[in-house]
Amino acid sequence: MSRLSVVVSLSAACAACAAFAAVAVEMAEPKDVPPLFAEGEARTVEEWRDVRRPAVKKLLESEVYGRRPVERPPHLAFSALEPDAVMMGGAAIRKRVRVEYGGAFGTNSFTFTAFIPRQEKPAPSFVFVCNRPPDEVIDPTRRVKSGFWPAEEIVARGYAAIAFAFDEVTPDREHGNTLGVFAAFEDVTAKYRPYDRWGALSAWGWAASLVLDWIETEPSLDAKHVAVIGHSRGGKTALVAAAWDERFAMACSNDSGCGGAKLHHADLPNSEMISHSIRSRAFWYCNRYRMWANRDKETPFDQHMLVAMIAPRLVCIGSATEDPWAGPCGEYLTARLASEAWRVFGRKGLVSDGFPAPETPQQDGDISYHLRRGEHDLTPYDWNVYMDFADRHGWRCARGQGKEEAGE
Ligand code: GCU
Repeated sequence: MSRLSVVVSLSAACAACAAFAAVAVEMAEPKDVPPLFAEGEARTVEEWRDVRRPAVKKLLESEVYGRRPVERPPHLAFSALEPDAVMMGGAAIRKRVRVEYGGAFGTNSFTFTAFIPRQEKPAPSFVFVCNRPPDEVIDPTRRVKSGFWPAEEIVARGYAAIAFAFDEVTPDREHGNTLGVFAAFEDVTAKYRPYDRWGALSAWGWAASLVLDWIETEPSLDAKHVAVIGHSRGGKTALVAAAWDERFAMACSNDSGCGGAKLHHADLPNSEMISHSIRSRAFWYCNRYRMWANRDKETPFDQHMLVAMIAPRLVCIGSATEDPWAGPCGEYLTARLASEAWRVFGRKGLVSDGFPAPETPQQDGDISYHLRRGEHDLTPYDWNVYMDFADRHGWRCARGQGKEEAGE
């Protein structure tokens, strides 16, 4: 893609987005992006699955997100927090679940709430990694509602809406990664920790996989059609979750920026760089990531590798015009560069003729990219883009009618 095409299609965008366009126009062509495939390397599905993808995973583990101590916990149990309830005027069954997990160093737990459409067929679902105060966003009683988590609309479209508060898994603050999930699998009092010890993003993504473990046990849900979705730090988490766990059929990464969908090897003036992340949120990553502060363009990895790990499954990347910190153009470039992995499968990845104007989602391939007008946020508009994409790929079940009388 030439720099020109980015500039031209941006100038076609609305005048209200001028501030954003000014940032984007300055964007330099990505340079020295570490290639997904080595020169002359075979590009067969087998080669990708058996050689290249494992190498990419190892690289991202050792340099960015860290290595998980376990994929499946030795102890895993689900229990109902309270009896199931009919909610949303009879449209959904609410299940509230406690997930208890344990390893060599202890046992811990977190909870989630699922609103499952009352229909004949098992429902596809969206597992939401919630990074905002749960009382304001994912209220299980639905007295408080939020466009950030439009559970009623999700259910009305035939999808189960399942959310957990990531803070319950491990708090989103610097504590040396010694609480929650970390305390179950390692000696958190140890003075020295491996350079590639997992960070919070990987831990939150791992928790999403435990929710998927539960989905597999639940007959009213279709475990083959599960999307993991999050915004910003939750959007970074969603990509990591789906990259590491191939059971997720889709990842939706909204405004995820640095450490998420934003490419490091591009000049995006006002966007977050690795040094910013390290200064305030080093605990999201493994220790070795610190080495790359102020060396964004020297990294032997980049975020198209993370997205490529999800191929040939579905990926949605969303940006917002007034969110230069997340680097919308960098998120778009990542989608384009990652598409090479889809081509190995004879698929298309992102189908795009240039950086899109706001609110014209590009959804013809297996990667969806859209730019929303407005600020850093996850809105009903974004949700609808993600659900439209799932619909296009045949996720929506025939919506049956509830059998019982409504009553909450
Ligand atoms: C900060 C951080 C970002 C992150 C965002 C969020 O801005 O620098 O990396 O995505 O918070 O999670 O809201």
